[in-house]
Amino acid sequence: MKEGLAIDVRNLVKKFGPKVAVNGVDIQMPYGQVWGFLGPNGSGKTTTIRMICGLLKTTSGEGTCLGYDIEKESRHIKIRTGYMTQKFSFWGDLTIRENLEFVARLYQIPSMKQKVDETLENLGLEHRQHQVADALSGGWKQRLALAAVTMHGPELLLLDEPTAGVDPQARRDFWNEIHRLSTNGMTVLVSTHYMDEAERCDKIAYLANGKMITKGTVSDIIDRSGLITYTAKGEFVRKMASAVEGKPGVEHVAYFGSALHVSGMNRELLEGTLKKATMDGMEWTEVRPSLEDSFIALMKSSGEDTRRHHD
Ligand SMILES: Nc1ncnc2c1ncn2[C@@H]1O[C@H](COP(=O)(O)OP(=O)(O)O)[C@@H](O)[C@H]1O
Ligand SMILES: [Mg+2]
Repeated sequence: MKEGLAIDVRNLVKKFGPKVAVNGVDIQMPYGQVWGFLGPNGSGKTTTIRMICGLLKTTSGEGTCLGYDIEKESRHIKIRTGYMTQKFSFWGDLTIRENLEFVARLYQIPSMKQKVDETLENLGLEHRQHQVADALSGGWKQRLALAAVTMHGPELLLLDEPTAGVDPQARRDFWNEIHRLSTNGMTVLVSTHYMDEAERCDKIAYLANGKMITKGTVSDIIDRSGLITYTAKGEFVRKMASAVEGKPGVEHVAYFGSALHVSGMNRELLEGTLKKATMDGMEWTEVRPSLEDSFIALMKSSGEDTRRHHD
């Protein structure tokens, strides 16, 4: 495994006219790790990824990716990076083989035919290589896409919402593949909206309104959120949800299956409210907040919550 940082960028800023899309982002990511990049739509994830791999000029800020300056040496970064854009897709009317050959040509891969053969074999798609890509299921398209962006042997993978709209089994397969690549030394930064995917990452970086709100391991983020969460289970929880929503100390109400999570930052107020909110046969139990609970708390305490407030 290489020592040092695969991504080392400081104070990245990107303005589009008056719009500040990215507002002072720092990322120090060691080689060989898998990081999750989270944040609401429009928070600046794609823009940050594109600055990191040298596809987009920064307004200000500086740094290196794979040891190369993001501004002056972007050519070196591009050939060592696999970038799967949001909604990455294939030419549906080209065959599977033609799609891979096209990508191989883009990256000027030497001995292209051999590399494409190998890739098809690894994927188990040799027998279907002459079918059009549109004939593949969503999950297979995704595997093909991942194979295509790793064919040139990149050191870093930047995956921008690669599993949006992909079914759960295909998402699991996709993540197994990501971990296999990571075990072989690949560094992976992947943006996602899925909490279960975030929990598979070594670290998470969370953006809101172009700013990094928090970064760390799942466990660090939950600890730092300072959130207190109570849960109750049963058929009555839906009624209970509307009874406690907006009451003193209650900042967030969420369902996890049949359980209700009620969270807040102020223990006294929260417990006071919950004491009054009881029904026959139910009990509030304190639990460790989920990652999702914690993000909502962090957004609120950083003043980045754009949703309607209850007060
Ligand atoms: N080329 C562009 N021109 C103008 N505004 C842009 C451009 N690209 C992105 N933005 C704006 O920058 C903000 C961040 O966008 P983006 O990086 O795509 O966020 P995310 O990937 O987190 O959804 C959004 O408000 C978006 O509308
Ligand atoms: Mg995006």
